Amino acid sequence: MKSKILIVDDVKENVDILNQYFSAKGFQTVLAYGGMQAVDKAERECPDVILLDIMMPDMDGFRVCEILKKERTHFKNIPIILVTAKEDIESKVKGLSLGAEDYVTKPFDIQELEARVRSALHLKKALDELKELNELKNQFLGMASHDIKSPVSRIEKTVEAILKNKASLQPEHLEQIEKIKEEAQGIFNLISDLLNVVKIETGKMGLELEKVALDKLVEEVFRMNQMAAEAKKIAIDVQIDKEVPKILADPARLLEVLENLLTNAIKFTPLGKKITIHLKKVKGGIELSISDEGVGIPKNELSRLFDRFARLSPQPTQGEKGTGLGLSICKQIVDLHKGKIDVQSEVSKGTTFTVFLPS
Ligand SMILES: Nc1ncnc2c1ncn2[C@@H]1O[C@H](COP(=O)(O)OP(=O)(O)OP(=O)(O)O)[C@@H](O)[C@H]1O
Ligand SMILES: [Mg+2]
Repeated sequence: MKSKILIVDDVKENVDILNQYFSAKGFQTVLAYGGMQAVDKAERECPDVILLDIMMPDMDGFRVCEILKKERTHFKNIPIILVTAKEDIESKVKGLSLGAEDYVTKPFDIQELEARVRSALHLKKALDELKELNELKNQFLGMASHDIKSPVSRIEKTVEAILKNKASLQPEHLEQIEKIKEEAQGIFNLISDLLNVVKIETGKMGLELEKVALDKLVEEVFRMNQMAAEAKKIAIDVQIDKEVPKILADPARLLEVLENLLTNAIKFTPLGKKITIHLKKVKGGIELSISDEGVGIPKNELSRLFDRFARLSPQPTQGEKGTGLGLSICKQIVDLHKGKIDVQSEVSKGTTFTVFLPS
């Protein structure tokens, strides 16, 4: 199949020269005589590579680059080669930092340009293959996680049914069955996290928006974690200000955020300390903070905190489990709500996570 090349220049003669050359070399050419037309043609024709002039009256090549690479991210894999009379270093740096792959200055040697176009096409092919592999991985991960989720949840239910009749169990059996329950819960949580990651990666984490009273969610997450906190003799102080407005949000997803922040606070806080949850109204929305008196996070690790599978130095104080997916999912959910999540932390003193959600 012919490779498709989009040639963009406001000077018709320049377009003609490149058109003739690349057509003769067996390329399928698409032509644009300005920045706006370039964006439009990229959208409609989905080229394999773009030759882009910088100085154009309607919209310059930098802006085209920005739109194609940063704003409409489905174009991210189409290599852009800037072709321009601008020779200064700043322009080159600017073009590349906006996402262009390569840079050729006029007057150029057309054979050199062809060689650069061919190397850009190799890059495109490799990126497309990677994208396909990533999609395959997501499909597999989604399917496998989904198939594991049901049997694990059946194990949990069966174990719960057995535990309802505690009196009939030998103490050592009771302990073993409690252990099975705990492990099954661990697998269930991991699988739920993986399914969330797949949903986020494939852009399928939609929000089911409704008017949500955050104080109800805070109370729910408090109830869900009360036992785990009591087991570590950690007191949870819940402060809910008056007149916190309801917000438009997805309650199930927000509950996941609160659940992860509170389980983290419990996991990374030693016995006998305190956790404070504070919900308040702020300008433009509401703010929820969860503060602990736990182990804290070193400053140089904070930038990786919201990365997937971040292996950071803070360890749970009682050997509790985790996979390192929780905070990356929290951040994505908060982003989907157009909110903000921040952290402040001091080693050996404690950590505060703050979530802002617009109203
Ligand atoms: N409140 C906290 N205090 C200290 N360290 C924390 C706190 N919250 C998170 N961390 C650090 O950030 C890491 C990432 O947190 P995250 O919630 O993403 O993963 P996790 O809790 O280890 O596993 P998961 O949430 O997937 O079960 C944690 O492993 C820990 O090192
Ligand atoms: Mg966590």
